[in-house]
Amino acid sequence: MSELKNDRYIRALLKQPVDRTPVWMMRQAGRYLPEYRQLRSQAGDFMSLCKNPELASEVTLQPLRRFPLDAAILFSDILTIPDAMGLGLYFETGEGPKFERPIKSQSDIDRIGTLDPECELKYVMDAVRRIRSDLDGLVPLIGFSGSPWTLATYMVEGGSSKAFTKIKKMMYAEPAMLHSLLEKLATSVVDYLNAQIKAGAQSVMIFDTWGGVLTPRDYQLFSLRYMHKIVDGLIREYQGHRIPVTLFTKNGGMWLEKIAATGCDAVGLDWTININDARARVGDKVALQGNMDPSILYATPERIQEEVSQILADYGQGTGHVFNLGHGIHLDVAPENAGVFVNSVHELSRAYHC
Ligand code: CP3
Repeated sequence: MSELKNDRYIRALLKQPVDRTPVWMMRQAGRYLPEYRQLRSQAGDFMSLCKNPELASEVTLQPLRRFPLDAAILFSDILTIPDAMGLGLYFETGEGPKFERPIKSQSDIDRIGTLDPECELKYVMDAVRRIRSDLDGLVPLIGFSGSPWTLATYMVEGGSSKAFTKIKKMMYAEPAMLHSLLEKLATSVVDYLNAQIKAGAQSVMIFDTWGGVLTPRDYQLFSLRYMHKIVDGLIREYQGHRIPVTLFTKNGGMWLEKIAATGCDAVGLDWTININDARARVGDKVALQGNMDPSILYATPERIQEEVSQILADYGQGTGHVFNLGHGIHLDVAPENAGVFVNSVHELSRAYHC
């Protein structure tokens, strides 16, 4: 396997010295790029892109051709696991993901078998292998999964949700049922991420997009506990290289210390917390990823630079910071503004490293 030409992202996650702050963007491959929209219409739809390793690799590399990003992220989706579990994932235009057979009862959960990622999800592993080969060591490849709680919200609600009434009803009326689902998901996520690591993912990230809708106690019981189990089960070193793991709970700033205590290498932050406070609270325990509001990419280049400069100053001197947006890039952002963002991080961060 090729050595990395640019390992800034891995080094920052491991708190080793870097020359500049590394940067990548959540959802950096996707609909804000005209070349993505063109390839998607050729392929037919989003899942056809995910299931074709050659196209998935091409889409992964598209943003790297435009911007000097310090990491690539596998082009796939968190909902591949529930799809492989037989729930029948489909996308309705403008409405986001949906499941044909959502989870309604214990017997629906009992029917879910153990996944073999190199079997039902072989297309994901093939994409990882293909991307690693196409990247040729340019930057590290990030693998990912949804958290058990976040996956369960889609599986029980049958799609995206605003109020989470079905899963909250299950959580409070049938907690043992929900725990049995989360347990199965945690096992599958460990197997899935370890298979991605063996296929070539050089770092992994767990997206807990909906952990922040829980009460502090329920966040610990129904979300964090299962992410902790996953961290415990992950391969942390592979072929002589440490594989850093990042946990991202959107709206989870108030639980930072608890997230950091799972043994992860880094915590992802959204924009509702100041990164200076976050750093003071976690100390040397973990690296931090974040945390510019993606909506700032609608602003002028000057305003984008100003915000980048402020966040760099807030984090302060030294390593341990991976610059990112606090959530995915919006689909109607001008690609040039993403370029301004990435270049600003590189230029303005030199002053914070020796
Ligand atoms: O970051 C990247 O560039 C890698 C690819 C990636 C996608 N989804 C591609 C995608 C990643 C890391 C994800 C994760 C994901 N998927 C999350 C967690 C992160 C987050 O954003 O909170 C969640 C909750 C999902 C579930 C999901 N998939 C939703 C809600 C949607 C619809 C989004 C929308 O805006 O319509 C998807 C579809 C999806 N996943 C798209 C992409 C590029 C859009 C599909 C299209 O081309 O139409």
